[in-house]
Amino acid sequence: MEKIQTILTKYVSDAFLSAGYDKRYGIVRLSDRPDLCEFQCNGALAAAKQYHKAPFLIAEDVLKHASENAGDIFTAEVVRPGFLNLNITDTFLADYVSRIGEDEFLSIPQVGEPGKIMIDYGGPNVAKPLHVGHLRSAVIGESIKRICRAVGNEVLGDVHLGDWGLQMGLIITELRERKPDLIYFSDDAPEGEEGYPEEAPFTIGELEEIYPFASARSKVDADYKTLAMQATHDLQAGKPGYRALWKKIMEISVADLKKNYERLSVSFDLWKGESDVQPYIEPMVREMKEKGYAHYDDGALVIDVSEPEDKKAIPPCMVLKSDGASLYNTTDLATIVERMKLFDPEEIIYVVDKRQSLYFTQVFRAARKAKLVKPETKLVHVGFGTMNGKDGKPFKTREGGVMRLESLLNEINAGMIEKIRENRNVRDEDASETAEMVSLSAIKYGDLSNQAAKDYIFDVEKFTAFEGNTGPYILYTIVRIKSILKKAAEAGIAVEEAGLNPPGSAEEKALMLDLAGFGGVVWESYCELAPHKICAYIYEVCNDFNRFYHETKILTEADEDRRSGYLRLLALTEKILLKSIDLLGFTAPDHM
Ligand code: ARG
Repeated sequence: MEKIQTILTKYVSDAFLSAGYDKRYGIVRLSDRPDLCEFQCNGALAAAKQYHKAPFLIAEDVLKHASENAGDIFTAEVVRPGFLNLNITDTFLADYVSRIGEDEFLSIPQVGEPGKIMIDYGGPNVAKPLHVGHLRSAVIGESIKRICRAVGNEVLGDVHLGDWGLQMGLIITELRERKPDLIYFSDDAPEGEEGYPEEAPFTIGELEEIYPFASARSKVDADYKTLAMQATHDLQAGKPGYRALWKKIMEISVADLKKNYERLSVSFDLWKGESDVQPYIEPMVREMKEKGYAHYDDGALVIDVSEPEDKKAIPPCMVLKSDGASLYNTTDLATIVERMKLFDPEEIIYVVDKRQSLYFTQVFRAARKAKLVKPETKLVHVGFGTMNGKDGKPFKTREGGVMRLESLLNEINAGMIEKIRENRNVRDEDASETAEMVSLSAIKYGDLSNQAAKDYIFDVEKFTAFEGNTGPYILYTIVRIKSILKKAAEAGIAVEEAGLNPPGSAEEKALMLDLAGFGGVVWESYCELAPHKICAYIYEVCNDFNRFYHETKILTEADEDRRSGYLRLLALTEKILLKSIDLLGFTAPDHM
């Protein structure tokens, strides 16, 4: 479906042409001054330079021709110094919005040629509990994935597990200290997969206790740290017992991660991790050396990535440390190699903390320089800001520790159940399920309504309020619409067949104009990878809907045609809101 601006642009461009001017001046856009008009064209101001003529006179010429062919679509007027202000007619608006409901994509523009996009988000570390630092990546990444899909791309989300490196060596070392008799540590540990017990020698709870313990100990006990480094090395060299143990750690940890992500309505197409790309490192490094992309500097293998235009110096990207060990960078580069080989995406989007922005600049440039990607492959870092507590410092537990994501969810949920129970509309047995949905909307909307790059304050009280710019307010509005439509259905009033009527009030018109803008908003949020634009949009829709609702008798409207027109408008508003929250990654209950 074409945007209204596009339709108007055609008419106004033709008017420029018939008035004797270049048609490229006829671009129409949303008005900067919605109080004065709905759309505007500033082309006469630009044309004035080319034609050495007052913009006002050009606009008047165009207006004459526009009025002839605008038909029933819009009315226009000229405003000094040379703006063309346009308002669409009520019949055109009603017709246009009706067509949105019939469009299979609900007016969301589709990319001409579907691109393959990979999104790297989540980034949890195995054997460490998810903490709030991972929340933003999951929430923003999931939404960006859904938005990229909605415009017709083929999208793969990859969780990119942190499942390699010293953290694994630490866990293995600590386990060996505690349970030295396990078969994994025995000198004659079986070579293959067979011969190890089915059951893991730890629970997820133990695992999560072991890692921080081992990590802390390694910082004060040098011998212990040496052991952990040796264990890491042995694991990476393929020591059978350690490989088998590592598999168990992965199994337990990934199952727990999946459970947590599921609760957040976050899902990944790929559960790949840093460990998967280790085989790519050796050949990649060899080629980098052979082709002269990388060189040794002070013992370390590096790729120079500075560019003459750089305002700030960009340090070289290190590929191997001076002891020959690979590092975070190496793994990310090898992951690019693997992704290109297995999936050949046109674009890879990384949803990672913005404090890693210099790091990604280095990695992306190194990848290009070493020709790991095609020249046209897009590598994008969507860097997000920090989630702070009310004190403006990174979000912590009351005791000042790192807040586990699970605890945060439980805490918010407990408060929400209380709120919901107070409400007579929800049956007791539905309260906890409803509370989960509403809590999730609070968390996700609270996060996504901020521009991703900005730090924001995670204010539980504010985010869970049923009024204001919050997820629960959006859901509340949807539930209100659902309940009116349900009442209508119960009263046997058919909604489906009725068309939209031209708006009968300013409130109804404002709502229709909002709905008319839906496709454009989704497109913009796709181009800018900016879910916050969808949040701002639905907040506006909900406000305008509620205004309309307060001004209008819907079910008690005596005129049947009018009433079914209202209901159809409600049904479409619901559809657009539901699609929007789906793009943000949450759903609405039937009651709340
Ligand atoms: N595992 C890392 C962390 O917890 C995040 C990984 C981000 N993704 C990437 N491709 N580097 O900090």
